[in-house]
Amino acid sequence: MKVKTSAPGKLMLFGEHAVVYGYPSIVTAVSSRLYVEIDKIKSGFKIESPQVKDVRFVEETIRVFKEKYPFNFGLSIKTKSDFSSQYGFGSSSAVTVALLYGLSKLINFNLSKKDLFDLGYQINLNVQGVGSGFDIAAATFGKVLYFLRGGKVVEELKTESIPLVIAYSGIKADTPKIVKALREKVITNKSFYFSIFNQIGKIVEKARIFLEEKNWTKIGKLMIENHRLLKQLGVSTDKIDRLCQKAIEAGAFGAKLSGAGGGDCVIAVVKEEKKDNVKKALIEAGGKIIEVSTNALGVNEVKS
Ligand code: MEV
Repeated sequence: MKVKTSAPGKLMLFGEHAVVYGYPSIVTAVSSRLYVEIDKIKSGFKIESPQVKDVRFVEETIRVFKEKYPFNFGLSIKTKSDFSSQYGFGSSSAVTVALLYGLSKLINFNLSKKDLFDLGYQINLNVQGVGSGFDIAAATFGKVLYFLRGGKVVEELKTESIPLVIAYSGIKADTPKIVKALREKVITNKSFYFSIFNQIGKIVEKARIFLEEKNWTKIGKLMIENHRLLKQLGVSTDKIDRLCQKAIEAGAFGAKLSGAGGGDCVIAVVKEEKKDNVKKALIEAGGKIIEVSTNALGVNEVKS
């Protein structure tokens, strides 16, 4: 009996880093997905996961699931992805969630989305030690989410596909490393960093309203503001700043880094007529355009 599932990648829209310290964030699931095919075998585990950069997520998912819901057969697991693990779209979280969901289907156990999130978040922390869990939430629930650390609040926003242009900076960010490095700095100057996190938190609250109003001009302004604060946290790079600047000069309402910083993707909110212009400017500045849409569905079973 084969089970096939898929979970979406994600992009952080607002609130990265501050979310780790208890402030809210907004994340969207994207249309690029990660697929998992699970087959029962007699014994042992066969894992074919070429596009997942860290197979520990697959191994830990099996271990945690089996501990909670024991089963007495082996597994053959194959994964396939629409997106490169370089982009920072959350391939580790997507594989964790898609695999958990698939395993629950394989043993005919109905796991609620909340249980799926909690298990996924635990696995995420077991493997990388840090993280708010926003990526696990995007893979699980999909859509555009207002999110608080550990899933304390997960609320779907009533918006539509956000008119984004996305460019990969060409550099793969090491998220746990950047999060841990910032934590060291926060310890030495709490008041400075928390005042920034606080300002980011306020931006997120405004963004939530403007996203529901589909006010892209104001969303763009907030992105510029959020990016300025991320620069103050020291997580941006010259290349990322240049990509954001060029997108704005070419007509974007606003742009910012998305994720931990240090690399990964830049997102720009752009009206339809200006999209080609902005894409061209981003390519000229050394970015690679990634065509995905936002507000995608969460984990599901792929019926063949
Ligand atoms: C990384 O994509 C986003 C961070 O906020 C980390 C996290 O929330 O787990 C920097």
